[in-house]
Amino acid sequence: MQLDDKVCYCFHISKRKIVNHLRIYQPKRVSQLSECGGAGTGCGWCIPFLKRYYEQWQQGDIVAADDISPDQYAKDRGHYIKAGKGTPPPGATPS
Ligand code: FES
Repeated sequence: MQLDDKVCYCFHISKRKIVNHLRIYQPKRVSQLSECGGAGTGCGWCIPFLKRYYEQWQQGDIVAADDISPDQYAKDRGHYIKAGKGTPPPGATPS
């Protein structure tokens, strides 16, 4: 995934938005990333990725590209939701 790929499908938030939020607001806790458009407050799928970006930011080393493709990320989220592990808001259910 690259900076303009979506990280939070529930609220349509790209990695770039997350990175900019970290840079501008410098949150004290990873949970404060929810203030970035509600990131992580839907199905919960993206929370491990938000944690990873937060930790990378704390270490001063945000990695622009992740080792998962956008297609695989979306597919994995679909499996996660179909397995009953999280409930997305209306309109954000994978097809
Ligand atoms: S993808 Fe971020 S909360 Fe569902």
